[in-house]
Amino acid sequence: MSSGLEAIANELRRLQRDGVNRVFVEDDTMQLIVPKKDVVARSRLPDLQSGRPAQNPKLPEEGKDSPTPPVKSVTKTVTTPKVAPLPESPEIELPEGDAASQLAWLKDRVLACEVCKEHLSDDGKIVFGTGSSQADIFFCGEAPDADEEREGEAFIGKPGQLLTKITSAMGLSSENVFTTNILKWRPEHNKPYGNRPPTLDEMRFCLPYLKAQIKIIQPKVIVALGNTTVSGLLGHDPARKMGSVRGTWDQFETIPVMITFHPSYLLRNGTLKTKRMVWEDMLQVMEKCSLKISDQQRGFFLPKS
Ligand code: URA
Repeated sequence: MSSGLEAIANELRRLQRDGVNRVFVEDDTMQLIVPKKDVVARSRLPDLQSGRPAQNPKLPEEGKDSPTPPVKSVTKTVTTPKVAPLPESPEIELPEGDAASQLAWLKDRVLACEVCKEHLSDDGKIVFGTGSSQADIFFCGEAPDADEEREGEAFIGKPGQLLTKITSAMGLSSENVFTTNILKWRPEHNKPYGNRPPTLDEMRFCLPYLKAQIKIIQPKVIVALGNTTVSGLLGHDPARKMGSVRGTWDQFETIPVMITFHPSYLLRNGTLKTKRMVWEDMLQVMEKCSLKISDQQRGFFLPKS
């Protein structure tokens, strides 16, 4: 394997360990990964048209005696593209009223946001979030993907379907949860395929919308899905490793935050062990919300003895 390709593989492995679920690949790097005639390398790549991961994406084995990789170019691979700085974050003053009417007011406000609209692709929709204004559990992702942008609904693509499976296994319905993202639009990029994570600046701009949603709903728990969400919600800390903070509690304003892996990460790393890790996080959430937990639920994803 060329040292460039190996360096990319190593960097992707490191990101994967940290719970990063999507990367944005620059054209130069794409050339390295998919040299024009390298059919074998192509078969390992995500489906570029849909942006979905390959069925069995396998990173090449780490070479023991490999030369030091050109990390600089690889680091560039995974940084987000340059996005023009956004204006000041909006100021939200909620009107008087009950939670349902405040949430409806806020939704209209967000749907009318000129900055959000400016960043949509043709036919794209702003994604406000869905669920109950009385929800005890507030699931927060980073930003809509293509499926969500097309329909204007959060978490309806493959990761969203997995999230629905998780909430059903917790015994929850749409009455008990609210599901949204920090960013209310799909981060645009100049590629015909794939998704890119939102920048800190983009998340900073939309944070007041999220804060207002949380203020209205007053959930008992926020579940932060994935590394980028944790940065947007709790502040960016380059030293923070998803592997260390996953399964721990933090706090957003006064609300407890459970940090867990993003469902996209689970889709790509759905080992029994990873599923159990996320499930244990959900058991903690259920306990915090005083939900009844059956023995069967306690045993989900434990290895069979
Ligand atoms: N990933 C997210 O973070 N949010 C969505 O709504 C869909 C995918």
